[in-house]
Amino acid sequence: MTNHTIPLERAREFEREQAQKLVSDERPLFHLTPLVGWMNDPNGFCYYKGQYHLFYQYFPFSRQWGPMHWGHAVSDDLLHWTYMPCALAPDTAADAGGCFSGSAVALPDGQLMLVYTGVQPAGTFKRETQAQCVAIGDGQDFEKSLLNPVIRHAHLPDGYSEFDFRDPKVWRAEDGTLRMVVANRHSERQGAILYFSSRDGIDWHFIGEIDASNEEYGRMWECPDFFRLDEKWVLLVSPQEMHAREEFHAGYGTVAFVGSFDETDCNFHRETIQPVDLGLSYYASQTMVAPDGRRIMIGWMDNWETCKEAPRRHPWYAQMSMPRELFIENGRLMQHPVREIETMWQDTIVENCTVKEEMSLAGVNGRLLDMTVRIHSDACQRFVIHLAKQGDHYIEVRCDISRGELVFDRSHGNSHRDIAHTRHVVANARDGELTLRFLMDKESIELFINGGERVVTSLIPTQIEAEGISFFADTPTKVTVEAHHLG
Ligand code: FRU
Repeated sequence: MTNHTIPLERAREFEREQAQKLVSDERPLFHLTPLVGWMNDPNGFCYYKGQYHLFYQYFPFSRQWGPMHWGHAVSDDLLHWTYMPCALAPDTAADAGGCFSGSAVALPDGQLMLVYTGVQPAGTFKRETQAQCVAIGDGQDFEKSLLNPVIRHAHLPDGYSEFDFRDPKVWRAEDGTLRMVVANRHSERQGAILYFSSRDGIDWHFIGEIDASNEEYGRMWECPDFFRLDEKWVLLVSPQEMHAREEFHAGYGTVAFVGSFDETDCNFHRETIQPVDLGLSYYASQTMVAPDGRRIMIGWMDNWETCKEAPRRHPWYAQMSMPRELFIENGRLMQHPVREIETMWQDTIVENCTVKEEMSLAGVNGRLLDMTVRIHSDACQRFVIHLAKQGDHYIEVRCDISRGELVFDRSHGNSHRDIAHTRHVVANARDGELTLRFLMDKESIELFINGGERVVTSLIPTQIEAEGISFFADTPTKVTVEAHHLG
């Protein structure tokens, strides 16, 4: 497959030129950034021919969203990524308006199939429409099917949209055939997740609707994923236009429905509902299964509302979240950073101390850190941690232990913009201890509360030299700090 189209060859040529100019040490150490230009959702996350593959929504020619391509990178450990040439460009009648989000699945003949949303540009009397397309290849070069789009609006019962119909997630079921969930917007029920099956990835059959928003959890639902985990079924969606309710903030969010599923009548029964991530910068999760059976999730470490105002300091814009291992505990979806991070631990410091006035600990600082703070909560009401601190700039994490609330606050983090900077999150001590694990990678913080029962992910605008960390408690409080520098 060497006959690349002109748009794809242009993108690859541009990548080759740019690759020579780019300074790698300005990038985060273990979070994937686009080679150049703009990135949003993770796509086609899979393990194929002995490596992890991660594709992404990509516009190489600008640091703003534009006609969507698929960027591509591979990794042996989910932390160190090698760029591959741009995988898809909008270059056929079925996707001339963009190659939107999708997924990847290996075929029985050893090839990899990408399944994505093709956007057909608007005509004089018609808005742009969306339909599902496939491209098959060897893991680097992909050929689009002449039968694209393989799932069109005509496949759907009445009431479903041809304008909001996107983000297919495909997997191989136990019987060897394929399944897909894909998002649509129903005229009454709004966000709706549709379920399809196929033998070959080309000929798809509509089975039914798995779940719908009914305006309860946002309107259009984007980027669905659906999988079995520890005897439960988990439906992940990224809603637009949510109203703040329960633990959910307004705007773009991520929701996990945990429940049971009976495929014979396509009946998904919700048992629990929770935000996937409570931070300022997380959207569009996608999962895959690692060779050792772990279900691993990654998301876009950004937010459509705030990205418009975010600084553009580098020739690339945006990054992926840390890949996270998922598991269910007491009906709740839990997340751990992938254990591969332990291979990057260096210069570990463990301190048991009593915090009262503001204090710092020797060697506990920096912007490349995996730090767990265990706060013994008996007497303490208020515990505050400052990170990425220099002069008047810092990121603040305030724990009101008696109320069981944590506030993540980047309003003093050197932002010049009037955008959301704080999140209020439930954080109850368990057995007399509140555990906070911070992963810092230069311009981001991912905070895992109590072994991953809640996660708060945020980009931080703070200058890279701001490396201080300090602790403060209103009454003498025992803490254990375990800090691993990362390298
Ligand atoms: C989610 C999303 C998807 C769409 C893609 C376009 O962030 O809006 O629904 O496929 O981004 O880039």
